[in-house]
Amino acid sequence: MSVLRIDTSIQGPRSASSALADVAEAEWSAVRPTTTFVRRHLGAEPLPADAWAAAITGGPLPEEQRTPAQRDAIALARTLADEMRHADAAILALPLYNWGVSQHAKTWIDLTIAGAEKGERLLEGKPAIVLTTRGGGYGPGTPREGWDHNTAFLRRIVADVWGAELTLIERELTLARVNPAMEALLETAELMRKAAHEAASHAGRAAASSAR
Ligand SMILES: Cc1cc2nc3c(=O)[nH]c(=O)nc-3n(C[C@H](O)[C@H](O)[C@H](O)COP(=O)(O)O)c2cc1C
Repeated sequence: MSVLRIDTSIQGPRSASSALADVAEAEWSAVRPTTTFVRRHLGAEPLPADAWAAAITGGPLPEEQRTPAQRDAIALARTLADEMRHADAAILALPLYNWGVSQHAKTWIDLTIAGAEKGERLLEGKPAIVLTTRGGGYGPGTPREGWDHNTAFLRRIVADVWGAELTLIERELTLARVNPAMEALLETAELMRKAAHEAASHAGRAAASSAR
C-alpha cells in the first residue's frame, strides 16, 4: 500500500499543518505498518513556478517543436499525476497564507492536473486527509469571516476534481501563542489545537482501515 504525503508549509519544524499530518501518518502506520510513503515537501523543495505554463503551452505541440523547458515541465507534470494515480491514499498538509492557498500548493495542484488525462479523477474513491491551518480565526461572526479563500478551494479540488473520499481537518488561531494581540484567544486556540490533533489521529486510523 502506498500513501502520497504532501507538505507545503514554509515554516519548517514549526509547521502546524505538518505536525497534524505527522499525527495522521503515525496513526495510519500503526494500522498498516508496511505502507510506503511517497513524499514531497514543497515548502522545502518547491516546484518551479514557471513549469505549469510551460507544460500547458508545450502540451499541444508536436514533441520536436517543444522547447527543453516545455519537455521538462511536461515530464514533471506527468510524474506528479503518476504519484497521485498510483497512491492508495493521500495525506496533504496545505496551510493558508495571505488569505488563500499557498503558492507551492497551487503550483503542485496545477501541474498535477496538467499531467493527468482530461477529466481524470486521480484519487477516485481513495481516502484523502487534508490538514489545513491558519493563523487567525474566520468563523461565523468574526471580523474576518469570508476571508479564508483556501479551504473551499482545497475541498473543490481534492473531493470534486480528484474524486477523493475527503476528510478535512482544520486548525485555526495557530498564531495565538506568538502574537500578543491574540492573548485573549489563547484558551480557544489550545482547544482548537487539541481538537485538530484528535481529529487527525482518528482520520489516520479510519483512512488506513478503509483504504483498498
Ligand atoms: C507569509 C505568511 C502569510 C500568512 N498569512 C496569513 C493570513 O493571511 N491569514 C492567517 O490567518 N494566517 C496567515 N499566516 C499564518 C499561517 O496561516 C499560520 O502560521 C499557519 O499555522 C500556517 O501553517 P504552517 O504552520 O503549517 O506553516 C501567514 C503566515 C505566513 C508565514
